[in-house]
Amino acid sequence: MTQRVRKAVLPVAGLGTRFLPATKVIPKEMIPVIDKPVVQYAIEEARAAGIEEFIFVTADGKESIATHFYPHPVLERALEEKGKLAELKIVRDSTLPPGAVHIVKQHDPLGLGHAVWCAWQLIGNEPFAVILPDDMVLSQTPCLKQLIDAHSKVGGHVVAVEDVPRDQTNRYGILDILSDDGKLAKAKGLVEKPAPDKAPSTLAIIGRYILDPAVFTELDKHTKGAGNEIQLTDALNRTIASVPFHGLRFEGRRYDCGTRVGFVEANLAFGLAHPEMGDRLRPLVQKLLDTK
Ligand code: G1P
Repeated sequence: MTQRVRKAVLPVAGLGTRFLPATKVIPKEMIPVIDKPVVQYAIEEARAAGIEEFIFVTADGKESIATHFYPHPVLERALEEKGKLAELKIVRDSTLPPGAVHIVKQHDPLGLGHAVWCAWQLIGNEPFAVILPDDMVLSQTPCLKQLIDAHSKVGGHVVAVEDVPRDQTNRYGILDILSDDGKLAKAKGLVEKPAPDKAPSTLAIIGRYILDPAVFTELDKHTKGAGNEIQLTDALNRTIASVPFHGLRFEGRRYDCGTRVGFVEANLAFGLAHPEMGDRLRPLVQKLLDTK
């Protein structure tokens, strides 16, 4: 029996320099896709997967990310008095229960591995999720729920994976595959951002992880890897002899909001899938495509 996954770490300390000037004052994670900040999609996905506690690993100037999930009594009262009940529901739906939000400051941008290590005290000794909000997933079953279901069967580390073009292996953590049933791939090794000719496969980690707390002991060594950063992939690789590592080819489509084109693509994809907006948007997109 695996332990239940109750906590999620959201590394959100990045400066978002690719999105300047938008990110000069506003954290990148607060920029909306359609009508919701990118980070809210991650929180909703995690809640739908049964996650109860959220640890934001953040940096100075990014306080609005956690604040977004707190109650807003002044706004709520004003909406209530005006009878704007639909809007009131939207505000309350984006509020997390008392005690569910934790904030840890990552004072130095030392890498994803370091960001996750910062949450060690708040996680303790239980399996936990890591969500990189930049990776947005449109799916029938929330991506994180798919991972938690797989984790309940195989335990250890379970991460979301997808096949990427070989010329893009240098953007991802890549699996060295031991066995593969087409859905779940067991890895015998992992490499962070290998050059295409050095990559052991084209199966790439995307920003959803269920991790065994054994990773913290490795992260605690603060060993630097690719880009001179403390890499999560490297720490996971060093636990692979004692903790099974599986990549799940999840059902759904991933959109990489870490790039500007990916961000626009995510807006289109989520807009077209939006229950109220999709039907109105489709002919508009078509018209734009038809316009020479
Ligand atoms: C991080 C991880 C990488 C993973 C990727 C998924 O890289 O280091 O292993 O494949 O997220 O999005 P980053 O995108 O932060 O460079």
